[in-house]
Amino acid sequence: MEAPQHNLALDLVRVTEAAALAAGRWLGKGAKEEGDRAAVDAMRLCFSTLDIAGRVIIGEGEKDKAPMLYTGELVGTGRGPAVDIAVDPVEGTNLLAYGRPNAIAVVGAAPSGSMYNPGPSYYMQKLVVPAEAKGMVDLDAPVAHNLAQVAKALGKKVEDLVVFVLDKPRHKQLIEDIRHAGARIQLHTDGDVAGALMAVDPLANVDVMMGTGGTPEGVLAACAIKALGGEILGRLDPQSEMERRRILEYDVDITQILTTDTLVQSEDVFFAATGISGGTFLAGVTYTGRGATTHSLVLRGKTGTIRRISSTHQWDKLMRFSSIRY
Ligand code: FBP
Repeated sequence: MEAPQHNLALDLVRVTEAAALAAGRWLGKGAKEEGDRAAVDAMRLCFSTLDIAGRVIIGEGEKDKAPMLYTGELVGTGRGPAVDIAVDPVEGTNLLAYGRPNAIAVVGAAPSGSMYNPGPSYYMQKLVVPAEAKGMVDLDAPVAHNLAQVAKALGKKVEDLVVFVLDKPRHKQLIEDIRHAGARIQLHTDGDVAGALMAVDPLANVDVMMGTGGTPEGVLAACAIKALGGEILGRLDPQSEMERRRILEYDVDITQILTTDTLVQSEDVFFAATGISGGTFLAGVTYTGRGATTHSLVLRGKTGTIRRISSTHQWDKLMRFSSIRY
């Protein structure tokens, strides 16, 4: 037996709340870079207060392109546990810029060395299923087979299922196959971290996520799936010759099936996400005039604790000392 230890996710939620509060001001303004920058600035400032020796594994990009929260950047005070950090200050920058649902601020943390490093890989094929269907699906099996397996595991008919798919030209055949199998589809322009989490959340109206999305987003989703249960299966899926060449030069096995446990090789994982634009996954930021409210999902892998936190932020107190003007 051991005494309860520090739950880093309860610190991380302050980081995602700050990012969401800052980015929420950019809802629908058609300015994705400005919205992202506001979230990055707020997130980075909050990280600087945390007693961790963090290294960004999943960040805003390479150092020369991303001045802050770049891959490899050290975050935190340097005192405290050595952790790998995955961030997406605005997951769904277009969703935010065009005021569409499910833009979220996301952070994951796991013991140093335990997070999959995607290197130069941008895209990954993903199949995300709820806990009941873990071990019953196969990335190489036909779509109809996997859907039949999920339906069986959930005690549903294939016609009952809802599959989350990114609405991209590369998914034309996938969408046809899902329709042919008889399942229903939610098509989203962006935001497959929210899609993955909805697939494993029994309260959400999504049963499966299929298709190719960002590799970093796959690692972030895996951080949450470690706590929520369910399974993500993935494989690098370069979308250009240049991406394929860079992955091969990086000496990564392009054929490897990546599971939740290969994407994050520790149970001691922490995750927080805060809604920015609102939607079915997490309610968005509401500015009340005197402050704002935020809604977050806070997870700890080791204990499996799932917290949903609603916070009220009060400008008259906060703005007396906050260096971020929300
Ligand atoms: P950004 O927030 O970086 O814009 O990512 C949004 C997103 O939709 C992810 O959720 C998804 O994994 C990825 O982009 C898909 O990439 P693409 O839009 O290039 O197909």
